[in-house]
Amino acid sequence: MLTNHSFLNLPAYAQLKSHFAEIEPKHLRDLFADNPERFARFSLRFEDMLVDFSKNRITAETHALLVQLAEQAGLSEAIGKMFGGDAINATEGRAVLHVALRNRANRPILVDGKDVMPDVNAVLTQMKTFTERIASGDWKGYTGKVITDIVNIGIGGSDLGPVMVTEALKPYALPNLNVHYVSNVDGVHIYETLQTVNPETTLFMIASKTFTTQETMANAHSARSWFLEKAGDEAAVAKHFVAISTNKKEVEKFGIDPENMFGFWDWVGGRYSLWSAIGLSIACYIGFDNFTELLDGAHAMDEHFRTAAFDQNIPVTLALLGIWYNNFFGAQSQAILPYDQYLHRFAAYFQQGDMESNGKSVDRDGNPVDYQTGPIIWGEPGTNGQHAFYQLIHQGTKLIPCDFIAPAVSHRPIGEHHKLLLSNFFAQTEALMNGKTEEEAAYELKKAGKTPEEIAFLAPFKAFSGNRPTNSILLKTITPRALGSLIAMYEHKIFTQGVIWNIFSFDQWGVELGKQLANRIVPELETDDAISSHDSSTNGLINFYKQMRNF
Ligand code: F6P
Repeated sequence: MLTNHSFLNLPAYAQLKSHFAEIEPKHLRDLFADNPERFARFSLRFEDMLVDFSKNRITAETHALLVQLAEQAGLSEAIGKMFGGDAINATEGRAVLHVALRNRANRPILVDGKDVMPDVNAVLTQMKTFTERIASGDWKGYTGKVITDIVNIGIGGSDLGPVMVTEALKPYALPNLNVHYVSNVDGVHIYETLQTVNPETTLFMIASKTFTTQETMANAHSARSWFLEKAGDEAAVAKHFVAISTNKKEVEKFGIDPENMFGFWDWVGGRYSLWSAIGLSIACYIGFDNFTELLDGAHAMDEHFRTAAFDQNIPVTLALLGIWYNNFFGAQSQAILPYDQYLHRFAAYFQQGDMESNGKSVDRDGNPVDYQTGPIIWGEPGTNGQHAFYQLIHQGTKLIPCDFIAPAVSHRPIGEHHKLLLSNFFAQTEALMNGKTEEEAAYELKKAGKTPEEIAFLAPFKAFSGNRPTNSILLKTITPRALGSLIAMYEHKIFTQGVIWNIFSFDQWGVELGKQLANRIVPELETDDAISSHDSSTNGLINFYKQMRNF
């Protein structure tokens, strides 16, 4: 169990509060002018990664006070407990051990006195054998043909991680294998996917920690019916369906041979599960060696997080900056902006990672919090975002801290594209920091030949306040190892924030109510009778739907 504290009563919180009054009026432009060493002072290196956090509204004093906040919140102890297999997910009575899944040092990690590493390694070996059989063509479909398509059926953590990583690592894809992902219970998703595949050469991976999730089970049953209609033989199912789950009983009930089941454990949170057998589609797509590289990269970041001093610790630094804006500046959201088209699902992935973890309003003592917790996470790849929502980031009324992420070397070096892409990355962070004064805008307008009246009218609209904070995260290339480190970096940022806010980051009770109500409504939709069991709005909507479907 984590040791609880009162976030607002941490001594550093009060100090930060008064310090905030000093910092708030200061402009980043002046902070840079005052200190030529600012970049060196506020940037960190990790392997091929550079994290420049100098374009934040902080001074050395802010940084020191934030580090004290982390210390006073018991972060060291919490890190030790997570890595040590303590049941820190107290509302579910579970350890939180995604770090064990990539514990490449193989250090024993005990849960209830038992080392989990032999089981972790056994599943990795099972995954290796399977991926090699798929890649070599040794695994054959019911008509003796090799597998050309994998359809992963899962949702949330059993979908988003594999989707994001396979997209991010497309340049590492093995030849002759397509991977598809079906998540939405909207039949359109499975329908459209099945249009593109051949039952003789398709393997379905049913990925669900619980094996009871409505969406996944509906899609899995539809896939099975489609397959049986084509194959006409129950015995063929064993060659075309595998399960990834913690629930052996339900897997067997569904009709999947336990031989074809890849297990994991209740101490793996869904949104932290891509490192487990849930990553099987990733391993098939990029090969097991590359999957291992992904684990290696995450492990290296785990070690950095576990051992680096807080003021040199990248996930801790990013977490503290997030708290600075969230709890002192009142920022409501955090944008993640990858300047890499292959990372186009990265922000969506961490929408679940962060918002399902820290979207909590009750503290670890069970009391309502009287401060802000997890931010809204959003983002799109640059430069698309620049032509969509950056206007608001530059000139809107909201403060939106942004993480810019880019590789120095593109996997697809075509002409001048990568230089153009990175010129935009650098320009955006510079513009957000410096802005443009009204005087500068007026000068430009004068040079462009505008009249004094036109200048007076236009200058206020052409001015940018600047002073908008960004982190810049540059990597050499998005290799499997680098991506592993990058993902683990954000995971530990989320963990750190949850610890400091004194909330539980590894349960997700907030998604249960909707699920319960949907299950109650399903039978009400069976008949065309008007219903009256809900409030007038819900009744009205259901009854309108019933009328329309028969219209
Ligand atoms: O959205 C709620 C949730 O429980 C997530 O935490 C999880 O990743 C997802 O549903 C899928 O759950 P399962 O893997 O059990 O199907």
